[in-house]
Amino acid sequence: MERKWWHGETAYQIYPKSFRDTNGDGIGDLRGVIQKLDYLQELGIGVLWLSPVYASPLADQGYDISDYYRIDPRFGTMDDMDELIREAKRRNIGIVMDLVVNHCSDEHEWFRKACQDPDGKYGRYFYIEKWTEGEPLPCNWRSYFGGPVWSKLPGHDDRVYLHLFHRKQPDLNWENPEVRREIYTMINWWLDKGLAGFRIDAIINIKKALPFQNYPADRDDGLSSVDNMLFEAEGVLDFLNEMSDETFRKYDAFTVGEVFNEKPEELPLFIGDRGCFSTMFDFAETVLNQGPEGWHVQKPVTAEQYKAACFASQRKARDVGFLCNIIENHDEPRGVSHYLPAGTCAGPYGAAAKKMLGGLNFMLRGLPFLYQGQEIGIENVRRERIEEVDDIAARDQYRVALAAGLSPAEAMESVNRFSRDNARTPFQWDASDNAGFSVGEPWLAVNPNYREINLAAQRGNPDSVWNFYRALIALRRNPDYRETVVYGETAPYLPERKNLMAYFRRGESQTLLVIGNFQAAEQDIPLPGNVRRVALNNLPELSIASGVLHAQAFQFAVLEI
Ligand code: GLC
Ligand code: CA
Repeated sequence: MERKWWHGETAYQIYPKSFRDTNGDGIGDLRGVIQKLDYLQELGIGVLWLSPVYASPLADQGYDISDYYRIDPRFGTMDDMDELIREAKRRNIGIVMDLVVNHCSDEHEWFRKACQDPDGKYGRYFYIEKWTEGEPLPCNWRSYFGGPVWSKLPGHDDRVYLHLFHRKQPDLNWENPEVRREIYTMINWWLDKGLAGFRIDAIINIKKALPFQNYPADRDDGLSSVDNMLFEAEGVLDFLNEMSDETFRKYDAFTVGEVFNEKPEELPLFIGDRGCFSTMFDFAETVLNQGPEGWHVQKPVTAEQYKAACFASQRKARDVGFLCNIIENHDEPRGVSHYLPAGTCAGPYGAAAKKMLGGLNFMLRGLPFLYQGQEIGIENVRRERIEEVDDIAARDQYRVALAAGLSPAEAMESVNRFSRDNARTPFQWDASDNAGFSVGEPWLAVNPNYREINLAAQRGNPDSVWNFYRALIALRRNPDYRETVVYGETAPYLPERKNLMAYFRRGESQTLLVIGNFQAAEQDIPLPGNVRRVALNNLPELSIASGVLHAQAFQFAVLEI
């Protein structure tokens, strides 16, 4: 495998709207990101992904772009963006923007023109079909945000257009070479500005199985998950390789794909030495227990499931390339609330458990990708009423749960577990009003626990979650361990042992053993050899006697064996 500059880095995702507001309008902005670059440098971050800041009606919080060449005024100006790229580079941080090209906004000029003249040039930029009231729609796919993927084309009673996501996110027609050309030109325009690369949104969806056809319904609504279509779609890699040749490869840009539903044999084509992307996220843990029926039937993830999914991903990527390891992002619940046993965060071992989960994920082979606030252990937020929820996916799932017969309170339970708002509450900088995020009223209410959980409080505490993350990042950069931590092979240790997640990282001349006691009960773990050094430990003590590690609740350690 070829070595790349980014392999040894630690990456970080910012959700700009909720990171830091500098002008008091309650919306985080680019100046806020610039202001916090020193913080990110201090943390040891080398790659910084910004969720979208392009011009947008924010129907899906910026994943609905109305102008790819402009910064939304709520986030700042193009000068701010240029300054951010420059200032980040001075600190050896590469800026990665979100590339959202499966769809644009219905307020994009292309779509407006398509509505004016569906048979003209811009009509062919989208999927527009003839349809009359009373007839079946061109197909029965269910949009990711609920309801059919077809909506009436504004101004035309006899046409519908395709949107796999929200109706304000019309899908771009990638079969049209003119569309692809527009996209490549735009990508290069940004790369010329000095971006390090892109995170590539929802990209598997660009290839549709055509002609449109129905799939078996998987809910009472008679619709079928888009997954069923994606399973049959062939040829996405032709598009992706063309895009890569025309753009990323010319710049040696860093690219990370948001890829769900890839076919196993295709992994090398995505992230191998000649793959279309540098890397992609490992979502094997994210999708555990998900199903077409919705959030209200989704079971909690167990330690055993988590471990098995991580190990399976490590195995499949081993000879191929690097995956990005995450416990959360802007679409997922907070990792500590989602993967740790219920009640753990608020209990006596909360901090230890947060460190353990972070450590187990961070030490896997691949590129660790932190999400803003993960480094201080931000947790899910509790909302009482659906009106308090912004996330369009959560609002849809609330309706799905009610339709399935749940009470409003029960439906709110599932919303609270999975709502994307969990990740989108403002960053908790300090204990002052609004968590130091804004002097105005935040666009989304802060998590009320910010007076206990905030960066300022954790900085001064050597045992804080934050200082533990700093130690993890430092370990990755430490010349004594770097080679093994970045490139060492992963091999499970005692994989059958319940509520233990342990694995070796084996380098040429060094072996590290990573151990996490994934439970509140203590556990004796036999060690496979002598411990030469303790590289990291999440608790004040580590008890080893006669070759046995006596692990405390949620103890985590990295041992050189
Ligand atoms: C991706 C984004 C998500 C967005 C969707 C549509 O999954 O991460 O936030 O809603 O694509 O663009
Ligand atoms: Ca602002």
